[in-house]
Amino acid sequence: MSDLYAVFGNPIAHSRSPAIHTAFARQTGQDMRYEARLVALDRFREAVTEFAAAGGRGANVTLPFKEQACALADRRSARAEAAGAANTLVFTADGIAADNTDGVGLLRDLTDRLHCPLAGRRLLLAGAGGAARGVLLPLLEARPEMLVIANRNAVRAHTLAAAFAGHGPVSGCGYPDLAGRFDVVINATSASLADAGIPLRPEHYAADSLAYDMAYGKGMTPFLATARAAGARVADGLGMLVEQAAASFLLWRGVRPDTAPVYARLRLDLPAP
Ligand code: ATR
Repeated sequence: MSDLYAVFGNPIAHSRSPAIHTAFARQTGQDMRYEARLVALDRFREAVTEFAAAGGRGANVTLPFKEQACALADRRSARAEAAGAANTLVFTADGIAADNTDGVGLLRDLTDRLHCPLAGRRLLLAGAGGAARGVLLPLLEARPEMLVIANRNAVRAHTLAAAFAGHGPVSGCGYPDLAGRFDVVINATSASLADAGIPLRPEHYAADSLAYDMAYGKGMTPFLATARAAGARVADGLGMLVEQAAASFLLWRGVRPDTAPVYARLRLDLPAP
């Protein structure tokens, strides 16, 4: 019987993860099956326990269960611990291990596909919710000159920056207090999902800057439109989606898939910015 994997979420119907992992499995010759599972909001723990008991080997976890996934695991990687959230579970003989591949997925997309180095550069991260927290540690480990977290609710930005102060030069502020120009601007807010913009001004974009929206498949979002008007190069989060999946696949199967053809196939269905 094929090894069984799944993604747990609510909602889950829109998930691209089954298509991505099925493509990775075919490409690398791995004998595995990967399904999407809709989990009732109060049934996450039971769903994971039942899946593991039925022989499940690993799982991805998406909204709104990432924090619960981290909490219920027997072991956590440093990056899951820092994120306070897990998108990847590995079921082993001695319990459940939690990891978070979102941040490394973002990093790999930025550095490998978009050829955008982070070391010594000025980073702006918009948003201070779970999505921002999930990528902060790997971003700081890439050794930027500085990383500023800007958020509508400035207190959340300050609090998040303070929690990561030991990992690098990070600070937080509200949008009205934002000053300076940035080389890489990452939108980790949920604004694009609601077709809303965020209050960043053209003067925040340095020459040759990159604007990266972690949302994907939304085409030219208001955030990206403003950035492009300011002269920035723009990218959506489709590459991050594929790269976080590849990092999970590597954890489970010990093989790193080639993401380029899988990204290209998905891009055909999802509007690029
Ligand atoms: P997620 O897990 O997706 O990060 P979240 O924890 O609810 O979800 O956080 C959503 C983030 O998007 C927050 O940073 C939120 O800003 P506030 O903390 O000020 O609420 C941000 N956000 C959502 N809609 C926004 C909008 N229209 N403009 C600016 N920021 C927005």
